[in-house]
Amino acid sequence: MGAEVVVEGLTKSFGKQAIWRDVTLTLPPGEVSVMLGPSGTGKSVFLKSMIGLLKPDRGRCVINGVDIVTCSEHKLYETRKLFGVLFQDGALFGSMNLYDNVAFPLREHTKKSETEIRKIVLEKLEMTGLAGAETKLPGEISGGMRKRAGLSRALVLDPEIILCDEPDSGLDPVRTTYISQLLIDLNAQIDATILIVSHNINLARTVPDNIGMLFRKELVMFGPREVLLTSDEPVVKQFLNGSRLGPIGMSEEKDSATMAEEQALADAGHHDGSTEDVRGIVPQLEATPGLPERKGIRRRKDRVMKILHTLPPAAQEGIVDSLTPEEQQRYGVSPHHLVGAGQQQPSGQLPNQHHGQLPADQVARLPEPTRPGGSHRMRPRGPGQDGP
Ligand SMILES: Nc1ncnc2c1ncn2[C@@H]1O[C@H](COP(=O)(O)OP(=O)(O)O)[C@@H](O)[C@H]1O
Ligand SMILES: [Mg+2]
Repeated sequence: MGAEVVVEGLTKSFGKQAIWRDVTLTLPPGEVSVMLGPSGTGKSVFLKSMIGLLKPDRGRCVINGVDIVTCSEHKLYETRKLFGVLFQDGALFGSMNLYDNVAFPLREHTKKSETEIRKIVLEKLEMTGLAGAETKLPGEISGGMRKRAGLSRALVLDPEIILCDEPDSGLDPVRTTYISQLLIDLNAQIDATILIVSHNINLARTVPDNIGMLFRKELVMFGPREVLLTSDEPVVKQFLNGSRLGPIGMSEEKDSATMAEEQALADAGHHDGSTEDVRGIVPQLEATPGLPERKGIRRRKDRVMKILHTLPPAAQEGIVDSLTPEEQQRYGVSPHHLVGAGQQQPSGQLPNQHHGQLPADQVARLPEPTRPGGSHRMRPRGPGQDGP
């Protein structure tokens, strides 16, 4: 099973430029998570901070008990071996063929013989659909193949955690779906914890177990996919629908006057360029038939059912709807007992379990410019920290 990654109060700036502050989230072991965010919100900086390539100003990022922000160089080097990283551009060596590119970490970090290396490299190339392309140079293959080669290389050290920076960028929608399926299949095969950074809505809707979003230098929310996909948060709605209407502007954010102007234009019938409302929970991609079932799915169900009562009603409904009748029985829930404020608790159910109204502090919302110490954002808890 992949490792759990606990990020607490992570804050990063470059000189006077604050990138994000107080990012707190837990990547549950073996689950797939996506971090969304408009361009320039610091998604790549976040990934690099998680592996210690960039040094955050404060906060912690703990893997197997090691805080990579403060640990020694030696510990950092050791802990980094748990990670496989697919950088945004694939980061392949242009003068090396795919075989040598993929073999590189093995030759660099292990004492394996060339025979052992050959076995691993061919296996990973096969896993990513690149069997037969070993002798090609990065410049001779398509963008999608380069991504897959980068992914093969990220896999050779049997990572417990895989970080993918925009695995879809530069790919057409069909190739994006292929890489999405590949990531799910990899998760099924190796049960690694996966974090994908992306601004691709379709990928975000179909691939991950958990979704987060960075905006205005903060983590707007992070939690089970059903929370973000049903969110009424203006920035989330705008992002999912690719609309100009909302707080995200041409260069990251806009003021309220501009927002009012655009709203007035839209009210007068000017099309704002968005698609129809795509919010809502769509089925999640499953591993290709024949592969093992994703172990993370069962673990996630147990985890999410523990925090169900803390989630917004629409998310609760989506989660319960996604359970089979047997599972609903096992967890003691049923769909028609969920929504509706003030509804009587059916006997035998936990108090306050499926109430329609949530206390305001449990609903995810946009961070205010100056926020007092406490946090009101959604976040899943690791298995070690029992739900509230
Ligand atoms: N090494 C660096 N030094 C200074 N500024 C940087 C560095 N890396 C990124 N930035 C700045 O951090 C911000 C976030 O960048 P990035 O993480 O690449 O955004 P995203 O991946 O979300 O598009 C940008 O304004 C970028 O210019
Ligand atoms: Mg980036």
